[in-house]
Amino acid sequence: MALYSEKVMDHFRHPRNVGSIENADGIGEVGNAKCGDIMKIYLKIDNDIVTDVKFETFGCGSAIASSSMATELIKGKPVSEVLQLTNKAVTEALDGLPAHKLHCSVLAEEAIQAAINDYKSKQKIRAVGSLAKA
Ligand code: FES
Ligand code: FES
Repeated sequence: MALYSEKVMDHFRHPRNVGSIENADGIGEVGNAKCGDIMKIYLKIDNDIVTDVKFETFGCGSAIASSSMATELIKGKPVSEVLQLTNKAVTEALDGLPAHKLHCSVLAEEAIQAAINDYKSKQKIRAVGSLAKA
């Protein structure tokens, strides 16, 4: 059996949603200081729906495939659903990853959570700002 599924290879070779978003509503960056791998997720959110998402990943092929698949899974989804995304769901959508590469998909889960948290804290700042104006 091949080490990597066809889906992993496809998303590694042709990653979806690569890049950054100017004026993103939420940005999440996570990394592993030991190995230096970094994953960054940018979200555009309208009415609590993720309308656009882009990623920049400095990591291995599995990390790139995981980021790509994760962005596809959350596009068009409400924030509440996006928060439920686990690395297990990402891995399953990729038809599996080798056991020693599972940690790479955890970066995707963490980066998305971080981006949603960033969005939520910005919302709070905006709410306080509009209260101050009123
Ligand atoms: Fe860097 Fe796994 S080796 S995150
Ligand atoms: Fe480091 Fe995959 S992100 S080995």
